[in-house]
Amino acid sequence: MSDHESAPFTGTPHLAAAPGDFAPLVLMPGDPRRARRIAETFLADARQVTDVRGILGYTGSHRGVPMSVLASGMGIPSVSIYATELFRYYGVRRIVRVGTAGALPESVAVRDVVIASAAHTDSSLSRILVDGVTLSLAPSYRLLRAAADAAESEKPADRGAVHIGPVFTSDHFYLDRPALFDALQRRGTLAAEMEAAGLYAVASAEGGEALAVLTVSDHLRTGEALTAGQRETGFDRALRIAATALLADV
Ligand code: HPA
Repeated sequence: MSDHESAPFTGTPHLAAAPGDFAPLVLMPGDPRRARRIAETFLADARQVTDVRGILGYTGSHRGVPMSVLASGMGIPSVSIYATELFRYYGVRRIVRVGTAGALPESVAVRDVVIASAAHTDSSLSRILVDGVTLSLAPSYRLLRAAADAAESEKPADRGAVHIGPVFTSDHFYLDRPALFDALQRRGTLAAEMEAAGLYAVASAEGGEALAVLTVSDHLRTGEALTAGQRETGFDRALRIAATALLADV
């Protein structure tokens, strides 16, 4: 092989998919099993495109438009890897995270949906990307607006409370700092989760669009938590809102 010839593209370090295997629009749950379930129940004609490290990805279509689903794994380092590789090497334009979160204020209940209009974080990520600047980690306004519209136009029978506001993307699931949660709540933070800030940072760096539509799976104040079965049904509302946002102006 001459110096000018490069090896054929056979995937990235973390994705075994071929060029074109991912659609430009991607749903991103944390859990690989949930990715498979979304592919089986929500996408038409889905086929598996990657399974490196058990992180499952599928491509099919939704309302006639090609759409993929790829698990992110847990935490900022994991979601950052997959989001970067999708935007940079697979031509992905939009990623909407569909995950779970723990509610902070009493006004947010288990099963509610939280659309993250901003992501605070204790991760170094917001400080290490642009020297001397604390980056604001925010979603694509177009996706945010489309998700808010989708939530408002849901059928009354399907409608539950949908909150739009900042979330806290934590680097430590078992963080035991009530005063920190109090301070975040006083500043309007709705819920804690572990990926949105990473996804928003990567999207802004890579020129892509991102959003997180979260289902409240547990309450950090009351200790209430959904069972595994309840999580599955509760999740469908967030999924519909996320998919409608992905399709905005396509
Ligand atoms: N903290 C962080 N991430 C989460 C939580 C939580 O309480 N619930 C679901 N994801």
